[in-house]
Amino acid sequence: MGCELSGVVTSVGAGVQRFRAGDLVYTRVAKDRLGAFAETACVHEDLVAIKPASLDFVHAAAAPLAALTALQGLRDELLVKPGMRIFIPGGAGGVGTFAIQLARHFGASVATTASTRGRPLVERLGAEVIVDYTSESFVKVLKDYDGAFDLVGGTTLARAFSVVRRGGAVVSIAGLPEPTTAMKDMGGSIGLAVLFWFLSAPIRLRALIAGVRYRYLFMHPGARDLETIGALVDAKKLEVVVDKVFPFAEIREAFAYLEQGRAKGKVVVTM
Ligand SMILES: NC(=O)c1ccc[n+]([C@@H]2O[C@H](COP(=O)([O-])OP(=O)(O)OC[C@H]3O[C@@H](n4cnc5c(N)ncnc54)[C@H](OP(=O)(O)O)[C@@H]3O)[C@@H](O)[C@H]2O)c1
Repeated sequence: MGCELSGVVTSVGAGVQRFRAGDLVYTRVAKDRLGAFAETACVHEDLVAIKPASLDFVHAAAAPLAALTALQGLRDELLVKPGMRIFIPGGAGGVGTFAIQLARHFGASVATTASTRGRPLVERLGAEVIVDYTSESFVKVLKDYDGAFDLVGGTTLARAFSVVRRGGAVVSIAGLPEPTTAMKDMGGSIGLAVLFWFLSAPIRLRALIAGVRYRYLFMHPGARDLETIGALVDAKKLEVVVDKVFPFAEIREAFAYLEQGRAKGKVVVTM
């Protein structure tokens, strides 16, 4: 298993153009291959980028999947522009810590949900409105947002439609996939699209009634977006938040910690 890594190139295939042995790199590996939780990994060069110079290997390993997801959700799906108001429920987690910063970087104002545990972090990262989801309902606080980037799913996703204005959009990474997910993010399988059409019918009906567009994004690995992320990190416009680091021998404990659902930023395993 394992979806992302940072490391040193040890050898390259005959067709590799962009890298050579000794290069320091980071990557979100191929969705149908995984393999990052190992001493070595074999990754297609189209998915690999040079590690940001300002990051050590631990922080570089923490960035690819969550940062790419946040970038693609906000830039490509919600089309965030200066002056927009964006709601990001679940802001204190792995994806949320990147999403708040990137939405701010694109000129939007950000509302998020976090418990008292997560409040100081999301405030520091730039969230202007912070709703404590353990004691308050964001439906009572937020109104007419231009878009929501849902990182929590379930009832949070269902209720997000009522705080987004008509004509706006809700993009989720934790809800139910819909036909575009199959066509755009999963290789264009008609069979999957039909399955997702049925699975997502209730949430798409809710979106229709609210007059809001619904999209489930399954993020895309890729070198170009990783280079964009690397440039923002090295320009000190994007911070990588790491919660806990575990040695490889304790990878079971690392998963147990992650599965508690309380991580503040990313959890990393060192080899
Ligand atoms: N579709 C895709 O391409 C894609 C990509 C990446 C991730 N994902 C999915 O996206 C979800 C988020 O991933 P992640 O890595 O960011 O998760 P994570 O790091 O495990 O999130 C943990 C954080 O979520 C907060 N949280 C938990 N329940 C919450 C709630 N009801 N409201 C607000 N905050 C809540 C916790 O804060 P407190 O401790 O304060 O409660 C904690 O800080 C996961 O389901 C993941 O599988 C999908």
